[in-house]
Amino acid sequence: MLELRNISAGYDTGLVLRDVSLVVPDNAVVALLGPNGAGKTTLLRVASGLLRPSAGQIIVDGEDVTGKRPFELSQRGVCHVPEGRGIFPSLTVNDNIQLQAAGGKFKQSLKTAAEVFPKLGQRSTQIAGTMSGGEQQMLALNYAYVSDPRCVLLDEVSMGLAPKIVEEIFGYLHDLARAGQSLLLVEQYVTRALQLADYVYILDRGRVTFAGESGEIDEETMMNAYLGSLAS
Ligand SMILES: Nc1ncnc2c1ncn2[C@@H]1O[C@H](COP(=O)(O)OP(=O)(O)OP(=O)(O)O)[C@@H](O)[C@H]1O
Ligand SMILES: [Mg+2]
Repeated sequence: MLELRNISAGYDTGLVLRDVSLVVPDNAVVALLGPNGAGKTTLLRVASGLLRPSAGQIIVDGEDVTGKRPFELSQRGVCHVPEGRGIFPSLTVNDNIQLQAAGGKFKQSLKTAAEVFPKLGQRSTQIAGTMSGGEQQMLALNYAYVSDPRCVLLDEVSMGLAPKIVEEIFGYLHDLARAGQSLLLVEQYVTRALQLADYVYILDRGRVTFAGESGEIDEETMMNAYLGSLAS
């Protein structure tokens, strides 16, 4: 579905990703793990067209889409739920949902949102930024349900939430995976992410240090990936 080939990318301050290759197959969950500052958010930004790579290609369904704008990637089914709360805090819940909707299907999107997340249905006229953190993250996640995506990029959607809400969020991620969505999942809850994932990539200082099936990875590799970068 989505493939990054030999991607290098960064900012004015310097290169972050170096020769990174990663594949998200159809109907598969891929976990992207690694320590703070490894380049996980940067990789998702490249994958959704927000950041243009300095080298390498982005392929969607076999087609080279490198250099395409974010909305063009979104039209091809790539949905990015960004780090932080990916919502418009000063707009109402309904306005946010309508902005998330694919192809102007406003009515249908409100219906879907209320079915999947009953709390959003109850809070339709509330200003999104006044909702609790968990409710705001549900609204952010709703994008993956109403934009009709094929591959969802999720950047730490469980961050800063109470354990019960984290549980709930992972329930929704399971549902998306069961419904046949491809997921590229950046998560700090490593064990939970591995339970959900078919494949795992570890990124350390902008390079892939492990790529394989999630069942292949052992605790030592995992520990080294995180602690190794702290030690140096
Ligand atoms: N807009 C930016 N301008 C300059 N440097 C940036 C920018 N965004 C990120 N960086 C740098 O790129 C590197 C990778 O950052 P990135 O946010 O991709 O890491 P991450 O793996 O998502 O980390 P975390 O787990 O803390 O979210 C860091 O050194 C960061 O300071
Ligand atoms: Mg990040």
